[in-house]
Amino acid sequence: MTPAALTSTETWSLLALSFACFGIIANTLHGDGEPLIASLAFSGIAFSASYSMIRWLGPTFMKAGLKGKDLSKVHKKEIPETMGAVCAVVYLLIVIVFVPFPFYKDIVAATSGGGNRDILMEVEIVEKGRFLHRFPHNKLASYLSAILSLQSVCILGICDDLFDIRWRHKFFIPAFASIPLLAVYFVDFGVTQIVVPKPLQSYLGTLFDLGALYYIYMAAIAIFCPNSINILAGINGIEVSQSLVIAFLLVINDCLYLLVPYPHPATDSHLFSLYLILPFIGVSLALWWHNWYPARVFVGDTYCYFAGMVFAVVGILGHFSKTLLLLFIPQIFNFLYSAPQLFRLIPCPRHRLPRFNARTGLLEASVTEWQHPPKPIISLALKVLDRLHLIRLTMNKEGQVIESSNLTILNLWLVWFGPKREDRLAMEIIGMQVVCGLLGLFVRHRLALWIFDADNLTV
Ligand code: UD1
Ligand code: MG
Repeated sequence: MTPAALTSTETWSLLALSFACFGIIANTLHGDGEPLIASLAFSGIAFSASYSMIRWLGPTFMKAGLKGKDLSKVHKKEIPETMGAVCAVVYLLIVIVFVPFPFYKDIVAATSGGGNRDILMEVEIVEKGRFLHRFPHNKLASYLSAILSLQSVCILGICDDLFDIRWRHKFFIPAFASIPLLAVYFVDFGVTQIVVPKPLQSYLGTLFDLGALYYIYMAAIAIFCPNSINILAGINGIEVSQSLVIAFLLVINDCLYLLVPYPHPATDSHLFSLYLILPFIGVSLALWWHNWYPARVFVGDTYCYFAGMVFAVVGILGHFSKTLLLLFIPQIFNFLYSAPQLFRLIPCPRHRLPRFNARTGLLEASVTEWQHPPKPIISLALKVLDRLHLIRLTMNKEGQVIESSNLTILNLWLVWFGPKREDRLAMEIIGMQVVCGLLGLFVRHRLALWIFDADNLTV
């Protein structure tokens, strides 16, 4: 048996899960339809499909050259890379097949005159087409624009995995991918005002209109989310785990809105978010199973871009982009902390992942070597950071910096808490992320009332 084949237990479990899910889906097509239940069942199918395809396609990907060396192991063996592309494709197909389900009730109503399927076609309708004014075209447009944006960003991810696109070139592509979202947002919702916190209300009023800046802000979110996940990477399982944590926190946040009495203005947008997040969790769990330490596959940049864009899409179209940012606190910190290397104030090697010490089997903070001593101002800044324990420096006898630890949260964690095994480091970082995320949600729904007049959950 090749390692790629599924064991018989796996085959039977996945088949059982898929059949159960198909049964559930078939059962949702009556009355008003049960889109949320159908979405859960589709996510089960998404899980089974990705799980088996990751296994089956692994050797094919290796043959096509899509493979990478696991750098933090004694035997740096090659394993399939870009497995996120499998997940992304399964995900896209699932959300496309799902299109009729949230609209089942509306399709029945709009096409049959309110459930009366025997209605006769009038000449007028046959000649000019019928008015579907009762059909929520705006919701369908949101959903389709989400799919379009996700597809564009997956193409970018796959190109990056194939051709290693330059950082400065790929950085802005998610902004283009977000144009369909922004267009739908403009037509459908169009709110560019933000609620001003109480202490500033006497200067700015209750609402402050950001106008076009609001669209730039949303495009920036679309750039930030994918890239920030891609640079908090380099140890087994970290990309998928961090995405799963954000996804579960978003589900918790969405569920809070399902508990309030309907119709609540935000309920529909949070349902929309669930329809996109649940299948994402399905495909990600399958990938996580294979990518967690010791990794059997790598996720590739495709997964990072795709995951980040799923979050940007639900944040923008669900109108909760600021709450979304509260769930990205570790990624925001990592991005800001990395900025001096990203913008080349400090040299940035191709890989900044922690260094594997083959003697101890533990990871240590990796370093950048300074070929020439840094400029005085940078040297001063580095020494200040060193004092604050935010970086580790090695200096020569003249007091010149010759080595500095790479600026990522993973290396910083190792500087603070000492060398660790790879899975231990991943678990600690994920634990920290869960704590930050729950705190973020708490701040959003409880403490926000101190500085804002209302939480939209309570109005
Ligand atoms: C980003 C980071 C880079 C980091 C890399 C690791 C920035 C600007 N770039 O680059 O510093 O080293 O991700 O993913 O911060 N790998 C492992 N173990 C893992 C995951 C990856 O060894 O658990 C190695 C493998 O050799 C794999 C390669 O990293 O082939 C993938 O790197 P890639 O995703 O192409 O790097 P970038 O996203 O460009
Ligand atoms: Mg990457």
